[in-house]
Amino acid sequence: MSNIVPPLAGVVGWPISHSKSPALHGHWLKRYGLAGEYRAIALSPDEFETGLRKLSKKGFKGVNVTIPHKETVLKIADSITDRAALIGAANTIHFHADGSIGADNTDGYGFIQNLYQNAPLWNPKSGSALVVGAGGAARAIVWALLNEGAPIVRLANRTRIRAEILGNHFGAKVEVVEWSEISEAMEGAATIVNTTSLGMKGQPELRVHFNAALPEALVTDIVYTPLNTPFLEKAQARGLDTVDGLGMLLHQAVPGFESWFGQKPEVDDELRKAVLNA
Ligand code: ATR
Repeated sequence: MSNIVPPLAGVVGWPISHSKSPALHGHWLKRYGLAGEYRAIALSPDEFETGLRKLSKKGFKGVNVTIPHKETVLKIADSITDRAALIGAANTIHFHADGSIGADNTDGYGFIQNLYQNAPLWNPKSGSALVVGAGGAARAIVWALLNEGAPIVRLANRTRIRAEILGNHFGAKVEVVEWSEISEAMEGAATIVNTTSLGMKGQPELRVHFNAALPEALVTDIVYTPLNTPFLEKAQARGLDTVDGLGMLLHQAVPGFESWFGQKPEVDDELRKAVLNA
């Protein structure tokens, strides 16, 4: 008699109750009629490694990892993809049949796919990129833009030293610019990105103007609460094309879902609604 266990996956964080990932993967499981489960799992930093190995032994195919484990998981992993190593963090973990743990980072992939899906004319090679912020999200986005052929990435951060550290990590194609010169640094940019939490509900907005931006510049934000941030509104008022940040979250989930549940899922309006209402 066959004993087929439905695939198990989940998201590990601390805390975890805010995570949108269970709604996201849950929507796809239902939509494709797949047997399988995607759970939210709270593991504190102290119990992270033993907890992760337990999930592997219990038959989980893999997990997403979120705050605060995205960097520490690289110390535990037996294999790390090139992109996760370059970004210095992982968000997608695979438990292999031999008990080994593989770490990947799909945040940069999600960022790029979101732009191609929602701005089909966007060409990252056609001009520089301007990235505002130098935190964890910025690392994935700078990697992704360089990997996609951006000739230069300008980087501005309130705390300049963090931008310099990130710039040194990625090399000569990254130019650090002053926090007070963000608006001027938009000149010639094909891509303009906010990776800070500024503009999020309850936070102050990012005070910039888009006077120097090219008419064909694409403007995007990783903040998606609200979907249309003040940063994107200002860009729209100048007639620029914008893409909101929700799609990055949706697209980063695709490779994990496909690997764990055996179906490449679509990112569409139904999914957006399901995640926004979660
Ligand atoms: P994440 O991993 O989500 O990117 P992070 O590592 O905490 O989070 O980074 C947050 C980013 O938002 C940083 O670039 C941070 O700037 P600093 O390095 O100067 O802290 C930026 N940020 C957060 N609040 C800010 C504020 N009030 N003004 C300017 N930048 C801010």
